[in-house]
Amino acid sequence: MKKITLDTLQRKKHPKEGAKPCKISAITAYDALFATLFDPYIDLILVGDSLNMSFNAYPDTLSANMQTMLYHTKAVCRGAQRAFVVADMPYGSYTNEKQALKNALKFYQHTRADAIKLEGGQARAPLIKRLVQEGLAVVGHVGLLPQSVRGVGGYKIVGKTQQSAQQVLEDALSVQEAGAGLVVLEGVVASVATEISKCLDIPTIGIGSGAGCDGQILVFSDMLGLFKAFKPKFVRTYLEGATLVENALKRYVQDIQTGCFPAQQESY
Ligand code: KIV
Repeated sequence: MKKITLDTLQRKKHPKEGAKPCKISAITAYDALFATLFDPYIDLILVGDSLNMSFNAYPDTLSANMQTMLYHTKAVCRGAQRAFVVADMPYGSYTNEKQALKNALKFYQHTRADAIKLEGGQARAPLIKRLVQEGLAVVGHVGLLPQSVRGVGGYKIVGKTQQSAQQVLEDALSVQEAGAGLVVLEGVVASVATEISKCLDIPTIGIGSGAGCDGQILVFSDMLGLFKAFKPKFVRTYLEGATLVENALKRYVQDIQTGCFPAQQESY
């Protein structure tokens, strides 16, 4: 079991001569239990601030804080021995350079995360540069920015106009120029995301951005069909998780009520 590093991920886009590029597989996880299950199969595990919605039933990601993200990152790192673990910087934790540096360093000092991720393009480039100077591996995140949804009035697909496509390309290039090792492209029109992925040297990880990205990420509870509140168009469900859990629970309750559980072999 060889630990996946930033170098491993970048080599998937730029393999040694003769080898074919290989797409990066990524998924979110918020605890050691699921991280342990995902670790042997997945290249990158993101401790996303999406946990605020899918795990903690808040309407958006904005109220996730450093304490919460550190707690969940520690748990995921206990479960993931092989995968590259990325921790999300929560909203409000990187509003200026001093604060961002202090908070970003906490992920390296208190957890075994391999990198931190923060949202924003051109405007965040100086900050990314500073964090990289401090020895941190940084993952950028451009396109649809969930931490900005209240400001922009919702979850809006990016790149539908020439101007918007140009802006997201410039954002991705600035993030790369600042030293980010990977960049998430969220909610970007597929043709635009493909073009960005071709222009960039660093790998792009898409979510709702089509098949032309260098890798794909989904929120695990969407992918496993555990989150039932809504299902975005870009999600593919690989398991009817909620139905399986519900059916198991019905059988469990029935067994308790009928006295079938526990049986003799389950008793001391
Ligand atoms: O928080 C998260 O899960 C994310 C993904 C949507 C990329 O940032």
